Amino acid sequence: FEAPYPPYDPQDKSSFAYETVVKRWPVIITNLIDHVHRLIHDLTMESRTLANSGSTDPAIQSKIEEGKEIIAKASHLKYRMARDQELEKIPEDGEFYVHEYNSELDKLAQVGKNTWFTAPWLYAECYLYRLFRSYFKQSTWWADFDPFYAKKEETFRSSVTAIHQIATTMHELETEKDKVVDDPDKLSVLFKEMVQMCLWGNATDLSLLTHLTPSDIEHLQTVGREAQQARKEFILKDDQDAVWEHIKSLKPQAGTVARCDFVLDNAGFELFTDLVFADFLVTHTPYFSEVVFHPKLFPWFVSDVTPTDFYKTIELLSSPTFFNATMETTPESAHHLKEMVERWRRYLEQGIFRLSTAVEDGHKKAQFWTGPWPYWYMEDKANSLWRFLTESGLVIFKGDLNYRKLTGDVKWPVTVPFATALGPLAGSFPLLSLRTNKADVVVGISQDVADKLDEKEKGWRVSGK
Ligand code: F6P
Ligand code: MG
Repeated sequence: FEAPYPPYDPQDKSSFAYETVVKRWPVIITNLIDHVHRLIHDLTMESRTLANSGSTDPAIQSKIEEGKEIIAKASHLKYRMARDQELEKIPEDGEFYVHEYNSELDKLAQVGKNTWFTAPWLYAECYLYRLFRSYFKQSTWWADFDPFYAKKEETFRSSVTAIHQIATTMHELETEKDKVVDDPDKLSVLFKEMVQMCLWGNATDLSLLTHLTPSDIEHLQTVGREAQQARKEFILKDDQDAVWEHIKSLKPQAGTVARCDFVLDNAGFELFTDLVFADFLVTHTPYFSEVVFHPKLFPWFVSDVTPTDFYKTIELLSSPTFFNATMETTPESAHHLKEMVERWRRYLEQGIFRLSTAVEDGHKKAQFWTGPWPYWYMEDKANSLWRFLTESGLVIFKGDLNYRKLTGDVKWPVTVPFATALGPLAGSFPLLSLRTNKADVVVGISQDVADKLDEKEKGWRVSGK
C-alpha cells in the first residue's frame, strides 16, 4: 500500500516532529543516562562497603562496567542526533526485528532520508526505542532492565485520588448492577462514561511530561461527571453512538460470546482505566465474555505497558502500602478498590482477562507492536496477529502512537475519512481508536473545525487536550 501523502518528518520546523527531535528526545536520552548513572553510583557505594569489610563481588563490578558502556552508547547517540548524523544499524542483539529495522533503514538511505532530521518521524521514533533496547539486551546484567520503570511507578503512585474515585464509582455500579443490565438506555449512558474515562486516561503520558506540569496532570485525571461534560467540547471526532450500536449487535448467540481486544498504550493510570473499561464490558454488559490485552514486549515510548508493568500494576493496586492516603481517599474507597482488583485477579485466573503474550504463539504476535510499520501492513508483516484480531468483537487501540500507526503518520488532509486513512486495514475487524492528540496527524474532521482551531488553539494537534 502506498499512501497518497508523504510521512511527517522533522524537516518542517513548525511540526511536532521537529520539536521532538530538537527538544524531547534529547531530554529522554539525558534522563536515561542520569538514571543509569545513579544506579552505577549506588553500585559503586555497595562495592566500596564490601571492600571495606574485606570482600568483593565480581558481579557488581561487571554490572558497573556494563552500565558505563550503556551510558557511552547513549551519549554517542545524543551527539549524533544533535548533528543530524545517520541512524546506525541496529546491532545483532538477539532481539527480534534486527533485519527488519535495518532493511527499512537501507531503503531510507537510498533516498537520502536516513539521518535524524530527515527520517520519517514514525520510523525514527520506533527505531530509537528499538536502539535503546539493544543497549540493554546486549549486556548480561542489564538485559531485562527497564530504564523507564521507576518513573512509571512514581507517576502511578501520584494518581491515587483518581483511582479511588473510580473504584467507588465501580462499586456503586456493582450494587446497581441488576437495575442496569437489562436497561439498554442506562447501559448506553454508562458505556459513554467508560469510553471517556478510558480516553482521558491517555492524557497521562510520561513522554510528554517534559512540558506538562503535575497540576495539569491532576486536572486531566479528575473524572467526575461535570468534568466529562465540560470536556465534551474537546472531543473532535466522536463515534460513541456508532460503537455502542456495533457492540449491541454482538448479542450472545448460541453459546458464542464476543472477545474484546485492547491494544494497550501507557502503564499506570491509563492501564488502570483500560482495566476498568474491560471490567465494565465483561461484568456489566452481556456482550463480551473475554478481554485480551496487548502489551509491548520491551520498554517502549517511555510509558508504554510491558508484561511486567501489567502484572506489577495489579500487585501494586493490591498493596496496602503502595499508595499514600490523601484527603480524598477513605477506608471505604480503599475497600472498593480491593474488591475491584480482586475481581480482576479472578478474571486473570479464569482466563477472562488475558495478556496477548499468554495466547498461543503470543510473543510472535506481540512483536509487531514494537515494529516500525503502519498498521496497514499488519496482514503481511504479522499475519497470525491479524488473523487473531479478525476474530475479535471489538479491537480498542489506545493512545496517540497507535493512532499514528493506524493512519500511517502521513500528511492526510484533515477531511479524509478515518476508514480511508486505515488503508488496507479498513474492514479487517471492528476497531475503535481512543486517542488524545499528541502528534500532527489528524483525520476525519471538517475543514471548518480545523481552520477554527488553527486560528484559536495553536497547539491543538499536539497538546493532548
Ligand atoms: O513522541 C512522539 C509520540 O508519539 C507523541 O505523539 C506522543 O506524545 C507520544 O509519543 C506517545 O503518546 P501515546 O503514549 O499516547 O501513544
Ligand atoms: Mg505511550
